[in-house]
Amino acid sequence: MNPDLDRLQTYPFQKLSMLLDGVQPDPSLKPIPLYIGEPRHPTPAFIKRALVDHLDGLAGYPLTIGTMELREAIAAWLKRRYRLDAVDAATEVIPVTGSREALFAIAQTVVDATRPDPVVVCPNPFYQIYEGAAFLAGATPLYLNSVPENGYAFDYDQLPEAVWRRTQLIYVCSPGNPTGYVMPLSDWERLFDLSDRYGMVIASDECYSEIYFDESRPPLGALEAAQRLGRKGYPRLVVFSSLSKRSNVPGMRSGFVAGDRSIIKPYHLYRTYQGCAMSPPVQQASIAAWSDEAHVVENRRLYREKFAAALDILRPVLDVEMPDAAFYFWFKTPISDTEFARRLYQQQAVTVLPGSYLARESGGINPGRHRARIALVSSVAECVESARRIRAFVETL
Ligand SMILES: Cc1ncc(COP(=O)(O)O)c(C=O)c1O
Repeated sequence: MNPDLDRLQTYPFQKLSMLLDGVQPDPSLKPIPLYIGEPRHPTPAFIKRALVDHLDGLAGYPLTIGTMELREAIAAWLKRRYRLDAVDAATEVIPVTGSREALFAIAQTVVDATRPDPVVVCPNPFYQIYEGAAFLAGATPLYLNSVPENGYAFDYDQLPEAVWRRTQLIYVCSPGNPTGYVMPLSDWERLFDLSDRYGMVIASDECYSEIYFDESRPPLGALEAAQRLGRKGYPRLVVFSSLSKRSNVPGMRSGFVAGDRSIIKPYHLYRTYQGCAMSPPVQQASIAAWSDEAHVVENRRLYREKFAAALDILRPVLDVEMPDAAFYFWFKTPISDTEFARRLYQQQAVTVLPGSYLARESGGINPGRHRARIALVSSVAECVESARRIRAFVETL
């Protein structure tokens, strides 16, 4: 067996299920799961229709690179969304079957494990795929803490120069999961500077880019930041985007990677062998989804409504803040985060994710300790009901 498999950590949801094993909530309460970031608004009918209308496509093998029509739809979306002057659909875009596998695959493509002590830098707290991707690429993951004292911004000075010299890949996530933090231009400037100095590839996870609260202020993206800073051809930068949250199709497995063509080319090669070409009907449904914004505006309206209602209920009893973007509350727990999750489930049948499961000990702290994550993914009514139950629970502490 590949010995690096033993380095993989237990997934946060498995840890949660072990924590809650044997706990019996009041059977009269309907369980409300808020621990997983799975969008639960209905999939728009026009996307389902596009999928069904193209089922004949199942009769052929798809190409890993996807159809030109899909890549052009993605490039057009990127140009509209980020006001980009140029995105070449032929060389700078590749469809992926959800950003999860794509984030894993990038480490397998860019990390050169024959160089001494390769490092992959991950945010902390973080999406655990980054860490597993680093292990299986033969690298050591190291962590950049993202803490409220610093407004969740990364302090790149946390890692010494000797580490940056060994760093081959850095993952960033903006809007962040779980913090909701959106990296401003100044953060990008600093990160591009590090990449220019030490040569590492930047993998920018932007799967929450379309979940934000002010229609006039969409989150800045990495390609947009690169253009604004005059970086031609997006050197050493690749972004990961997804329809899962934007269009409520997590089961469709559709996203894309875009950026530096000198990375997209070997990435395509790697993916040809990995065998993760997108099914033809999914490609057609994805073209429909990337070409429409009305359903995304409606999606955001629902999130806005849920956040406003839940914030009103929770703010008097908990240290909750409106995030910059994404669909999570990342808040301080009045007792230990695992105790909070366990007792909340027992008393109110509401499941939240202990923050320590999403983070690692680094620089002497686990930035998830005494924090929890709530995903406001279910209906408005259910989110309001769960906020009321959380409040009732906190009032008993
Ligand atoms: C930060 C982050 N990145 C990537 C993903 C993967 O999303 P998908 O594979 O559905 O595109 C998720 C899913 O929850 C996530 O939270």
